[in-house]
Amino acid sequence: MLEFDDIQHILLTRAPALTGRYDFLSFRDPAGGRQWLGNFLQEVQSAEAMRASVEKHNRWVSVAFTWNGLRALGLDEASLATFPEEFKQGMVARAEMLGDTGENHPDHWTGELASPDMHAIVILFARDAAERARFQAEQEKLIARCEGVKVLSSLDLEATPPFGYAHDHFGYRDRLSQPVIEGSGDEPTPGSGPLLKPGEFILGYPDEDGPPANLPQPEVLSRNGSFAAYRRLQEHVARFREFLRDNGETPEEQELIAAKLMGRWRSGAPLVLAPDKDDPELGADPQRNNNFNYKQMDPLGYAVPLGSHMRRMNPRDTAANMNRRRMIRRGATYGPHLPDGAADDGVERGIAAFVICSSLIRQFEFAQNVWANDRNFHELRNERDPIIGNQDGTLEFKIPKRPIRKTIKGLPAFTNVRGGAYFFLPGLAAMRYVAGLGSH
Ligand code: HEM
Repeated sequence: MLEFDDIQHILLTRAPALTGRYDFLSFRDPAGGRQWLGNFLQEVQSAEAMRASVEKHNRWVSVAFTWNGLRALGLDEASLATFPEEFKQGMVARAEMLGDTGENHPDHWTGELASPDMHAIVILFARDAAERARFQAEQEKLIARCEGVKVLSSLDLEATPPFGYAHDHFGYRDRLSQPVIEGSGDEPTPGSGPLLKPGEFILGYPDEDGPPANLPQPEVLSRNGSFAAYRRLQEHVARFREFLRDNGETPEEQELIAAKLMGRWRSGAPLVLAPDKDDPELGADPQRNNNFNYKQMDPLGYAVPLGSHMRRMNPRDTAANMNRRRMIRRGATYGPHLPDGAADDGVERGIAAFVICSSLIRQFEFAQNVWANDRNFHELRNERDPIIGNQDGTLEFKIPKRPIRKTIKGLPAFTNVRGGAYFFLPGLAAMRYVAGLGSH
């Protein structure tokens, strides 16, 4: 039985928010940090509390810590040593392997995210900007009372218009395919794969391989916790639109190029089910829009190129061990919408996302290293993920087609990494334990 009253809501639920804010904190004084946490905890909703009151509330808050952050709060060395190696090292130290080189290198990140002094993130999702402002004012008061707690940087989140459905700045409908956890009460939509054991995403429960091993200690600290890889990815919208114009003569051709890069039309309709023509009704229908596979329905990629973002990030029945590599995606867009036809305005916009999993190395890092950035994934030679791969202008994107395939050479970078970090997302009891450390 999942302990819904202890698991932070972000793991199991999605808030109906149009705005939000991430605050990145530093703790210069362990007792001050614990005082902040002890007080702040009342803001953080469990999955149970969120589900019981989602209509009543206007904001939803989570909190997570870097390994340096746990140390800064006074966790002892014996306990710190029990965390997984990649989490201890942090995302900055893993840059090479993640593909965060060149323009994506942590040297170019903003908001002090690459600093070892970045200790925690407060994740606020709010129904509107007024609620966000109220939350911020309350937080400022609390922080001012707690010795040594500093806000290093913040990022405001904004949904992009039109607001009726979730989509990114490039215009792709999102949040269609998500793994579903056994016992969570959620039903997978057709095609979303089998119910997965909770331990794939939540520490302390059996995973697809059996009982969990090597959990961070003491048990109260890891139980109902998880790990989250944070990625702030700038989206170069004007560059993306120019690319579509350069590679498609008609608006229909341009839409098809956009669809081939992703694996879905921007409406959400999957190319496997709608290979030649967009079908917005299909894109909006959760009973149908994820109901496909690749091996039987599109083995050679005539509908969905093998190198498209979606086919890389979840190769479904064309990869081994898929049940051990799924990821829960959360987050939001930031920055202003760039209206159609507008020139580049030089303003940063993009996606600020969390990839949540119980093993950063097995799930997130594998996806980054092999699926996104291995040039020879699926024997594609000289390709990386067209949306999130590290692109330096020398790689290509192949669109299988009869009688001859189309090869786009010199793919530009549509996104760049502007920040990132590995966080531990503890359960509520674990946070009470940390907040109480000095007083035991
Ligand atoms: C700017 C960055 C990104 C954009 C614009 C983007 C966009 C999208 C879109 C539109 C979809 C299809 C909607 C869906 O199936 O739910 C998708 C699917 C997905 N993306 Fe991304 N994404 C980005 C970054 C990432 C990152 C960093 C990861 C993980 C490392 C990731 C992992 C996935 C996964 C696992 C799926 C589901 C595929 C499936 O189950 O078929 N994405 N993405």
